[in-house]
Amino acid sequence: MTKSRLYIPTNKTFDLAVKMLKQGDIVSFPTETVYGLGADATNSQAVAKIFEAKSRPSFNPLIVHISSAAQAGQFVTMNDLSAKLAECFWPGPFTMVLPLKPGCGLSDLITAGLDTVAIRVPKNETAHELLAQFGGPIAAPSANKSGNISPTSAAHVSEEFGDNINMIIDSGPCEKGIESTIAQVKNDEIILLRPGNITAAEIEEKTGIKVKTNIATTESPVAPGQLKSHYAPNSKMRLNVITPRKNEAFLAFGPCNTSENCLNLSPDADLAEAATNLFSMMRALDHLNLKAIAVAPIPHTGLGIAINDRLERAAAPKG
Ligand code: TXA
Ligand code: MG
Repeated sequence: MTKSRLYIPTNKTFDLAVKMLKQGDIVSFPTETVYGLGADATNSQAVAKIFEAKSRPSFNPLIVHISSAAQAGQFVTMNDLSAKLAECFWPGPFTMVLPLKPGCGLSDLITAGLDTVAIRVPKNETAHELLAQFGGPIAAPSANKSGNISPTSAAHVSEEFGDNINMIIDSGPCEKGIESTIAQVKNDEIILLRPGNITAAEIEEKTGIKVKTNIATTESPVAPGQLKSHYAPNSKMRLNVITPRKNEAFLAFGPCNTSENCLNLSPDADLAEAATNLFSMMRALDHLNLKAIAVAPIPHTGLGIAINDRLERAAAPKG
């Protein structure tokens, strides 16, 4: 492990991070969801380094992070509905896919040829400070190799990339633990592309608009990045298990009698706690190298929808 590459968030750290981003280097930083791998979103050579480090297919577009909702209009066309969603959910674990403003200066690599851009204002203090000091847009996917589990700590980022990244800003474990909700706004329609902490029910409650969903469940994604196998550990995953088999690790939820090779997402069956623990516990159980990771049933309600989405992708056969 390359401990020297971890930096705690101090003024000196932000100065160095801004310098590195400006010179076209990549920097890993925390958000409230997962750690990101960031580059100057206006610099194609810098953005290309993200795709290379992650071995990410170039048809998979990136999320652009900005420090305040007021900056969004530079890059995308907002309407009343997207402005309302921005007011309700930014800063926060919420990404909007909106029409790209041609000539706005974003690298073409970010959109993978689409005429839309995914844009997000994170709430995490360190992410906010970095974006504010950098002043411009930062493209950042989750800081994991393509297809792997997203990192929820600086140590996970280190584990993914070793010496291949020069700077990881470490502000401890991520509060939310799973990636942002992604919703596309098309005129007066809201289409959920990835479930997350902000649920469809909350979006409907704030806007009075019925949310459509377009979450791919097949091998051929309807939108880029909706690959069925994703967030996958090396171990096989077996879902909705009440009693694990011998030689299986167990990811429990709620009261549980298993103690050996078992981690509990939330002994009190709290979905927010389970989401926060999900990826770090999947990683830890993966390291045991047992026959499989068996996972207890998680209710398909509220945040449970996003948790089940990640588990189903983790369990899907690798393509
Ligand atoms: O919580 C998060 O969203 C984290 C943190 C770092 O912000 N980021 C993240 O990025 O999860 P990534 O690249 O791992 O996932 C972004 C997803 C991908 O599935 C990508 O295909 C999709 O967003 N995406 C990006 N731009 C899009 C667009 N224009 N239309 C549809 N999907 C898009
Ligand atoms: Mg990702």
